[in-house]
Amino acid sequence: MEEITWELFERQVEACRLCPLCQQIRHKVPGQGDRNSPLMLIGEGPGQTEDEEGLAFVGAAGQLLTRMLEAIQLPRERVYICNVVKCRPPHNRVPTPEEAEACRIHLRMQTWLIRPKVIVLLGSTAAKNLLNPEIRITRERGRWTERKGVWMMPTYHPSALLRDESKKPEAWEDMKSLKAKLMELRLYPDIYANGEGS
Ligand code: URA
Repeated sequence: MEEITWELFERQVEACRLCPLCQQIRHKVPGQGDRNSPLMLIGEGPGQTEDEEGLAFVGAAGQLLTRMLEAIQLPRERVYICNVVKCRPPHNRVPTPEEAEACRIHLRMQTWLIRPKVIVLLGSTAAKNLLNPEIRITRERGRWTERKGVWMMPTYHPSALLRDESKKPEAWEDMKSLKAKLMELRLYPDIYANGEGS
């Protein structure tokens, strides 16, 4: 079997025809960021801006996500960001379970390559696909689960925060909880050096 490498991952995503989503897109959006990051953030799927640019979370929701990370002193370049599906679903609809399942091979390979210590699931599609298909994000956001040594937490999708500002205080609680987890695990020691962050 061919060795699993980033080069193989990129080639596999580009060549992928496992579901029909790729028939209507401009670019595939594999994900980007620090490939040595201990933290991985997983969203739902590319939107229009992401489809145009081939990059994850670069539209309005992505800009909010960048500010949320900065609020806990994390520069966006220090984390890895991707989505459950790598091709934009038409009209930004939620990916079907079949589309998510077809794309899982890519997410698995990506997770294997990064070996994150912490995964944040942005919104219900990511939480349902990676944690529990029955999950209610409003009820279970902010809860930590450990699986095979990886800590996972679902939180609101930044698009949900743009639609409904009243969710922002809970999202901020989740970001603080993320920072606490990163500190507890002694990740990003250069950022959270004195145990307090700055
Ligand atoms: N929403 C997502 O879930 N992912 C993106 O990359 C952009 C918007």
